[in-house]
Amino acid sequence: MTAPAAPLGLLAELTHRCPLQCPYCSNPLELERAGNELDTETWLRVFDEAAALGVLQVHFSGGEPTARKDLPALAERVASHGMYSNLITSGVLLDRRMLDTLQTAGLDHIQLSFQDIETESAERIGGLPGAQARKLEAARMIKEAGFPLTLNFVVHRQNLERLPGMIEMGLELGAGRIEIAHVQYYGWGLVNRDALLPSRDQLIAATEVVEAARIRLKGRLVIDYVVPDYYAARPKSCMGGWGRRFINITPVGKALPCHAAESLPGFDFPSVRETALAEIWNHSDAFERYRGTDWMPEPCQSCERREIDWGGCRCQAFALTGDAGRTDPACALSPDHDVMAAAVAARGDLPTEFVYRRIGGAPVGEAWRHES
Ligand code: SF4
Ligand code: FES
Repeated sequence: MTAPAAPLGLLAELTHRCPLQCPYCSNPLELERAGNELDTETWLRVFDEAAALGVLQVHFSGGEPTARKDLPALAERVASHGMYSNLITSGVLLDRRMLDTLQTAGLDHIQLSFQDIETESAERIGGLPGAQARKLEAARMIKEAGFPLTLNFVVHRQNLERLPGMIEMGLELGAGRIEIAHVQYYGWGLVNRDALLPSRDQLIAATEVVEAARIRLKGRLVIDYVVPDYYAARPKSCMGGWGRRFINITPVGKALPCHAAESLPGFDFPSVRETALAEIWNHSDAFERYRGTDWMPEPCQSCERREIDWGGCRCQAFALTGDAGRTDPACALSPDHDVMAAAVAARGDLPTEFVYRRIGGAPVGEAWRHES
């Protein structure tokens, strides 16, 4: 088999520690403790290897990546290789001194997350009193320090009606880009699906707001929009295809083809502690398993979209069918597509209580243990 093209981006999940507890967090249900995290030297070596492999972008993520004291040193190493660097942060630990240090280190861009525009709702979703004021201050400092700013809003049934205000906030805070991302329902999002899944009417209204704003704000604000799979007829191209564009390193050094891959059974994900990144990318079973199209079942195997969406999301296929090798049920051609409609039908009139992200995982035996 020929070697795959180099990955475009590397997501460095520096830590699972985070002051917030969002119920749709993309981290796994079993969170890693600080004592198990990779040390600075290992991360620096990983970035050297990433540059040699041809990676162009490094995203510092978490948990909350600013909880790592060595973040400036890591950013500096990434910049020294000419790779583009992006900090994905909740902003609540940022201060001006840290921002200046990161600026000097060569960090290129900051993506700041908000849970809502209304303080009470935002702090209920994030589980951290006082967070909203700190985030607003962080946005101001980020601009003052001269960074390009993207705002990120994860949207769902409990904040979607305030979408127009989110776009206005993006303008007011001087963001060049705003990402409106519907919750993706695996991991914590799946645990909280009945608390978060919007109605079809909510989705249609939101999409209209985004489309109108894109026209109105052309040239002033770029709006990225990630829709929920549950009302789709075709799946998203998750991660741009398994093992095609991205490599994700967990806080303890496991290399994954996507942030949720540890939810899949039957994998032995290689660690950057023992294995070189190029070896992992080019030859590991974990990255080869669903790479390309050879693994695909029907209807994907003979479908004209197989090199467009790559059969959708492996983690969603597993979460909803118990088999990561099946067509993503988000696809209307999938024999399992009816599980999406069943989830929508089972959605109650009122949202359920949040199960907050926390070290130690979600409570056992809750309704979130979904059908396989
Ligand atoms: Fe994509 Fe497979 Fe559906 Fe075709 S059948 S649209 S390749 S998920
Ligand atoms: Fe893992 Fe989509 S989140 S493949």
